[in-house]
Amino acid sequence: MIHRTRPLVAGNWKMNGLRESLNEAASICKAVAAGGAGKAEIVVCPPATLLMAVTAICEGTKVGVGGQDCHAEASGAFTGDISAEMLKDAGATYVILGHSERRAGHHETNEQVRAKAKAALGAGLMAIICVGETRAERDAGGALAIVGKQLASSIPDNSPPGRIVIAYEPVWAIGTGFTPTPQDIAEMHGFIRERMNQHLPGQGANLRILYGGSVNPANAAQLLSVEDVDGALVGGASLSCAEFMAIAGVYR
Ligand code: PGA
Repeated sequence: MIHRTRPLVAGNWKMNGLRESLNEAASICKAVAAGGAGKAEIVVCPPATLLMAVTAICEGTKVGVGGQDCHAEASGAFTGDISAEMLKDAGATYVILGHSERRAGHHETNEQVRAKAKAALGAGLMAIICVGETRAERDAGGALAIVGKQLASSIPDNSPPGRIVIAYEPVWAIGTGFTPTPQDIAEMHGFIRERMNQHLPGQGANLRILYGGSVNPANAAQLLSVEDVDGALVGGASLSCAEFMAIAGVYR
């Protein structure tokens, strides 16, 4: 496997995890310190309630922490929301934006995702911006067009180099056990790199493009060896240190 940039394996805990899950975070830190992730960068994105506790556990280790969403404004009367500044203040260095569960469940538009990404970059966070087509869109032959539109409208222009990560997550692959073929992933990741090189001139080659959607210990080696795949965004399998590290261990 030849990598232009340091691969990234990020765990998205979604709305999962109580205080007892802090043990998993501590185990992940230990496993990474022991070299379990090789050259890969590891990030854990817990629910907001655990964010500060997880950053305390990860402080001084090689494991980064991320939020799962942020508001486009820095502060104000937005009940229930969390700003990029707050994530940064809590010790996060990353934030996941535009996840399909937010696009579908909270009706987030590409334009809102872009505004959130601008806020994240402004707060000094790295933004993992998710894109991906539905099954119907793929079956209709429209996957590239949909992802192209999401990229064009969700990624802020003039993003500083290295601060944006794209996660290609086909909606139909998330939490389903289904994954695209390596050929389909290679095609999409190559397309994303080409589009992003136009969108952020000169940044395409070093851009990290993660694959996400039903990554597990059994399929990680194959999925992560696909051309133009620079890491993974892992949902369900990131809740267990053993499974998450078995995935990250591909980079050992
Ligand atoms: P999954 O989720 O690994 O459980 O399919 C991935 C994601 O939604 O980020």
